[in-house]
Amino acid sequence: MRLTRKVTAMALASCMVLSMTACGGSKPAETTAAATAAAETTAAATEAAKEAETTAAAAAEAAGGDMADKKVGISIYKFDDNFMTLYRTELERYMVEDLGFKKENITIQDGKGDQAEQTNQIQNFIASGVDVMILNLVQSSSAPQVTDMCKDAGIPVVYINREPDAAEEERWKTEGLNATYVGADARQSGTFQGEEIVETENKGDINGDGKVSYIMVQGDPENVDAQYRTEFSVKALTDAGIEVEELLLQRGDWDQAKGQQIVQDALTQFGDKIEVVFCNNDAMALGALQAIDAAGRKVNEDIYLVGVDALTEAVQNVVDGKMTGTVFNDHFGQAQTAADMAVKYLNGEAVDPVNMVDYVKVTNANAAEILEKVK
Ligand code: BGC
Repeated sequence: MRLTRKVTAMALASCMVLSMTACGGSKPAETTAAATAAAETTAAATEAAKEAETTAAAAAEAAGGDMADKKVGISIYKFDDNFMTLYRTELERYMVEDLGFKKENITIQDGKGDQAEQTNQIQNFIASGVDVMILNLVQSSSAPQVTDMCKDAGIPVVYINREPDAAEEERWKTEGLNATYVGADARQSGTFQGEEIVETENKGDINGDGKVSYIMVQGDPENVDAQYRTEFSVKALTDAGIEVEELLLQRGDWDQAKGQQIVQDALTQFGDKIEVVFCNNDAMALGALQAIDAAGRKVNEDIYLVGVDALTEAVQNVVDGKMTGTVFNDHFGQAQTAADMAVKYLNGEAVDPVNMVDYVKVTNANAAEILEKVK
């Protein structure tokens, strides 16, 4: 799954230019340099050459121009997060392998869940003269302050994963600031989770009492992903005319061990009354599954369980019928879009304030296919 549409398009563009020479297994950076050179030589000559130049420009642009000397500062809210680890790995891979950045010019810091620490890292990025930043804020409410710091330093910033609020995004537009957000609309993932329950044979009402009794294991509530998934998963049920009963809503901070503890305690307290376990992410759903197994309950028989992210283990569980569903939080698409936006800034191009990547519903029907993409 490493080869995405974009990468394929880039390779194609390079191949079109290089068809005059060769198109083998050369690395993207070399390919681009060769493509540009090829186009330059022929540009002055014929109509055909003009065409080649256009194609070369497209190839260079697709590969991000010459990024080899560009310095990038990246800070992740904390390294100890399953999903953000996948994201960060893909971000670095894509920038180095596909866009021609040098690994030694990319600094990735661990925000350690501490905004003061992360703000410090951002100040150091500014002092060291990075050309662009990609930031996964610890607290999205810090965005106005951080954006102003970046503006004063003349450094564009791409925010990822934890979305600043609408007023802040609006300000980037009205004040013409070089700041943008790349993420996924968490309302969509919440809705998909709810639909996965609505689509079960008894619409989530396992005991047939006319209502769906659920527990909600929430991520960090400061994060809009947690707020929206909590709200919209349940809304999908009520929108379908289903009555719901919330037995418990508790924050598990995206963490597997906390997810396990919360669900273990809830199963002790509410027992068979629990028909659905909603988890705002897969890490907590994996914890929930451990608790469900330990309590001798059976997913898809006497309890339903859904998460979000499509971690490999979770998707495997959906294939095996041990989780009802999850939602693919496309870290490939998000990481690549974030890097592409950074490149646009470096090339002096305009960037939209908000860039969303779609989620994909994952149920038993397509889990095997999704597993191929994520593993
Ligand atoms: C993911 C979580 C992750 C969080 C970090 C969410 O989009 O679903 O797994 O912990 O982002 O901010």
